[in-house]
Amino acid sequence: MAISSYTVALVVLLFDLSYFGKAANNEGLGASFIFGDSLVDAGNNNYLPTLSKANISPNGIDFKASGGTPTGRYTNGRTIGDIVGEELGAPNYAVPFLAPNASGKAILYGVNYASGGGGIMNATGRIFVNRLGLDIQIDYFNITRKQFDQLLGPSKARDYMMKRSFFSITIGANDFLNNYLLPVLSIGARISESPSAFVDDMISHFRNQLTRLYQLDARKFIIGNVGPIGCIPYQKTINQLSEDECVDLPNKLALQYNARLKDLLTELNENLPGATFVLANVYDLVLELITNYKQHGFTTASKACCGNGGQFAGIIPCGPTSTMCADRSTHVFWDPYHPSEAANLIIAKQLLDGSTKYISPMNLRQLRDH
Ligand SMILES: *[C@@H]1O[C@H](CO)[C@@H](O)[C@H](O)[C@H]1NC(C)=O
Ligand SMILES: *[C@@H]1O[C@H](CO)[C@@H](O)[C@H](O)[C@H]1NC(C)=O
Ligand SMILES: *[C@@H]1O[C@H](CO)[C@@H](O)[C@H](O)[C@H]1NC(C)=O
Repeated sequence: MAISSYTVALVVLLFDLSYFGKAANNEGLGASFIFGDSLVDAGNNNYLPTLSKANISPNGIDFKASGGTPTGRYTNGRTIGDIVGEELGAPNYAVPFLAPNASGKAILYGVNYASGGGGIMNATGRIFVNRLGLDIQIDYFNITRKQFDQLLGPSKARDYMMKRSFFSITIGANDFLNNYLLPVLSIGARISESPSAFVDDMISHFRNQLTRLYQLDARKFIIGNVGPIGCIPYQKTINQLSEDECVDLPNKLALQYNARLKDLLTELNENLPGATFVLANVYDLVLELITNYKQHGFTTASKACCGNGGQFAGIIPCGPTSTMCADRSTHVFWDPYHPSEAANLIIAKQLLDGSTKYISPMNLRQLRDH
């Protein structure tokens, strides 16, 4: 009796060691912690009572891991976060924090906290009733952080966070689209706050949020700037623009925020010892795809593949009653707001291996080995 339970314990221990050896000893990326909005949500909103959901067909139609059934990703296939994790050798996609399987050893390869409708500011996305803002996403990471102490022991856990983990944050677009620029809900804010005061507010919140992650041992950060949100099918449709025009104000706000973000990351790189903040220049990358879409193999950069309404199918979100384009790989935009997997693949490739034009001061493969 005593011997057999000893044997069982030993077998369990050996299994644990070999599992952990695989995760922790081999060089390269250990875990990917993903924060942000619908651009990288991998299913958290499925578990929230919210108006912002993507677990309806035909979303996910090209997502191989689910056999084409919707997962809560706001695109036809993989998100940029999925592709980057895969390329850097993660054996599975970072599990959504709110999913039942985000427990035990599954979290060793990373956790995804992103939520459709979420933003830097707590009030962002109110229109959806529910979503996880960045403050709450970091509260949730604080829970994960304690689980790592239990799984690996405090010293190994700290090392794993600092050296083997990526912290990517893709956020800010909703602070404009679903907060500052919303006609009704934000009327108070827009009367009392100039664009530069609102951007100031965003930056000071974001500084606190990134510093909190640093306090929890995050060191390798990837921060996406805000894309050309004046060029998405939704904005082009409601403003009745022609194919090659973009809406001025949203793009100007994005550029204003992006300039301040760049300075913030320079400041944090200087002030937080041992931390590396890498800036992903999503704005220029997506604008390049939109401007030179033909060179990148697309037939349109203005029309949503899945959606309805107006010239660019840009008003009603993608769902079972939407019309869907015949060839999903030839559209830059999957739906009125989000890029297609084909666009995500090009963006991810630049972030992984590209030059400082799009990813600086180093690309993600360099950051992994840094
Ligand atoms: C977790 O569950 C989701 C479905 O809810 C599935 O897509 C995913 O592959 C699972 N991940 C792991 C690591 O078990
Ligand atoms: C953020 O908003 C939620 C409601 O959505 C509220 O319960 C919470 O107290 C707010 N947090 C902060 C820091 O204002
Ligand atoms: C993490 O949670 C603990 C409580 O469990 C709290 O004392 C600490 O301030 C939190 N850290 C951050 C950075 O939020």
